[in-house]
Amino acid sequence: MTPTGSSGDLAADRRYRWALGALQERDFEAARDLFGQVLELAPHWAPGWFGLGEALEELGRRAEATAAFRAALARDPEDCAGAALRLARLSGESPALAPRAYVKTLFDQYAETFDRHLTEVLAYRGPQILLDAVERAAPGRVFAHMLDLGCGAGLAGEFFRAKAARMTGVDLAPAMIAKARAKNLYDRLAAADLLDFLDQEPAESADLAVAADVFVYIGDLAPVFASVARVLEKGGVFAFTTQSLPNGSGFALGADLRFAHSQAYLRACAAKAGFSVQKLAPAATRKDRGAETPGWLALLLKS
Ligand SMILES: C[S@@+](CC[C@H](N)C(=O)[O-])C[C@H]1O[C@@H](n2cnc3c(N)ncnc32)[C@H](O)[C@@H]1O
Repeated sequence: MTPTGSSGDLAADRRYRWALGALQERDFEAARDLFGQVLELAPHWAPGWFGLGEALEELGRRAEATAAFRAALARDPEDCAGAALRLARLSGESPALAPRAYVKTLFDQYAETFDRHLTEVLAYRGPQILLDAVERAAPGRVFAHMLDLGCGAGLAGEFFRAKAARMTGVDLAPAMIAKARAKNLYDRLAAADLLDFLDQEPAESADLAVAADVFVYIGDLAPVFASVARVLEKGGVFAFTTQSLPNGSGFALGADLRFAHSQAYLRACAAKAGFSVQKLAPAATRKDRGAETPGWLALLLKS
């Protein structure tokens, strides 16, 4: 995601818009040149450095792209644009999770068109797949308190409303929470990081936790599984989807800047947190450039 906003210099802003246009048209040499002009006028401005990094990466100039993303990160340590993910992709490393400011910015910008884009363009069906699996595992069961972790604009809420007496949603992006609130489905909504939120929840206060297409922004799931296990009562269900890592045994940041998890890793995290695995099956929940994205559907039981 290339950042938006103003540098405080009108001429630099104008060149920045031209540079974004060149990026979009895949004229990376022109984009590199224009971002360079932006930085001559506004050298302090993180989005200029980030855009330069993008153009250089596309041109295969990896060392210079790395330097530009580092410069962006130094000027925006919260990392709204996700420079840390770009650096990780360039170096082949996997950070533990996506920067919170990046996820928040991405989904605050995305909120307006999210439901339509996800269901119509990406053929997204995460909540439907999760509901079918929960229904098959617990036919007719109505849960007392469901947590929708990373609830976004409330798509899972639409599917699960009849399955839960009480429904709480949490999401990092306030604009997504506003969209979810407008649907009038949730009993409680919180704009927060899901780990911070879970830390504040009483132990054994929920019997269903759902996370649909959220763990693509979190690599290291061990802390999440431990927190969900604490908040779920015995016999509680933890249902989620992830992207699958075909090779390797852990998790990795992919070329799409999303995390993928291996089956072995998910099983190890589940066992460590005191879950038994009721179901862990391949399931594609969305498309990426027309092709199904391979993933896992997981149903864990708190033992
Ligand atoms: C692809 S959307 C899926 C939304 C929803 N679960 C659905 O199925 O439509 C991912 C959502 O996860 C949220 N998210 C990612 N990381 C998060 C975190 N650490 N804490 C809370 N929300 C998070 C994002 O803000 C975004 O709204």
